[in-house]
Amino acid sequence: MEPLGTPYSPTATRVLLLGSGELGKEVVIALQRLGVETIAVDRYPQAPGQQVAHHARTIDMTDPAALRALILAERPDVVVPEIEAIATATLVELEAEGAVRVIPTARATRLTMDREGIRRLAAEHLGLPTSPYRFCDSLAELREAIEGPGGIGYPCVIKPVMSSSGKGQSAVRAGADLAAAWEHAMAGGRVQSVRVIVEAFIDFDYEITLLTVRARGADGEVTTQFCEPIGHRQEGGDYVESWQPHPMPAAARGRAQEIAAAVTGDLGGVGVFGVELFVRGDEVFFNEVSPRPHDTGLVTLVTQAQNEFELHARAILGLPVDTALRGPGASAVIYGQVEGHGIVFDGVDDALRVPHSEIRLFGKGESHVRRRMGVALVPDDDLAVARAGATAAAGRVRPRLALRP
Ligand SMILES: Nc1ncnc2c1ncn2[C@@H]1O[C@H](COP(=O)(O)OP(=O)(O)O)[C@@H](O)[C@H]1O
Ligand SMILES: [Mg+2]
Repeated sequence: MEPLGTPYSPTATRVLLLGSGELGKEVVIALQRLGVETIAVDRYPQAPGQQVAHHARTIDMTDPAALRALILAERPDVVVPEIEAIATATLVELEAEGAVRVIPTARATRLTMDREGIRRLAAEHLGLPTSPYRFCDSLAELREAIEGPGGIGYPCVIKPVMSSSGKGQSAVRAGADLAAAWEHAMAGGRVQSVRVIVEAFIDFDYEITLLTVRARGADGEVTTQFCEPIGHRQEGGDYVESWQPHPMPAAARGRAQEIAAAVTGDLGGVGVFGVELFVRGDEVFFNEVSPRPHDTGLVTLVTQAQNEFELHARAILGLPVDTALRGPGASAVIYGQVEGHGIVFDGVDDALRVPHSEIRLFGKGESHVRRRMGVALVPDDDLAVARAGATAAAGRVRPRLALRP
């Protein structure tokens, strides 16, 4: 590997993050601890990751010209995308020109920013099991894809192809609800695109994130390692609590690792991947994959010897990784609950009276009712105690609007 340098000097190892939310903030902290010079980019100033990085830059990352100009001006050793909404075609070009190394690869960021790219790769190219699905560009096509001959049927799930955190997504149980689901998808997509995916609803027993790390060994070869499965609960397509390890029968666990190895092996490069899987008995379905740390993996801040952000930092830098579990634990999300700027959080002291609990507040300047503003974390050998503790601690934090000074 390249030797690590000294920040603010010509020897500095420089990493540029595209997206600087709560996950990027932890990646920056992990890099900082290794003396890496960090440049945190976001679409708005003072984003969480920018608050702890050496440099902050604010641009529209979906603007190809702005993204190209920034990367060529900064000349980082590595570019680390933290979000999906990026002009990924520009990353593909810059990587092909040899101007930059993208984590894990520019192709992986392009394929995963769009549900169609990754779904077709997983189901049609790699032959992995997924829910039955179709892509549609109008309400009429959607109705035909569900109700027509050989159609998906009800119940089904409809999602804009470009969206995340459950935005624009709905589960539909009957034809009468279809028009509303279409309108919801049109309003929730990230870009002006009318394309949606409709998937058969999978009545899974549980869903997991299998954090999968591709990192270089001593011989320079990339190896694949797995963290213990993370169980999680989603509401409206957004994660509300997660825990690790999620117990799994050996057959399903083996199948999950096979699927994760296949999809991450094809995407290539080095770094952490969050492979989302649905499990029903011994059957495992691939849902989607983040080519970066995963929100449900925030729990690893208290459960793993090296949390997912440290694993990502190490893999990026060509350092050895260890995915060992330190002990079981849980995380629960703290939502904004109010609309406003510069809010205050009451009850953090009460929250921290939950035994062994930790609270992270992300420092986001603007709160929304359903915006993730922080997380509560509790390690405990008894998963039920950890989950109850994390949920209780999160509930004790009470965001409110500041009184006028
Ligand atoms: N086909 C499906 N069957 C059952 N539940 C689903 C299906 N697709 C999505 N979900 C639920 O919605 C959540 C969010 O969907 P996902 O495709 O992961 O979107 P996002 O990119 O917003 O995370 C999943 O974690 C799962 O709980
Ligand atoms: Mg998901």
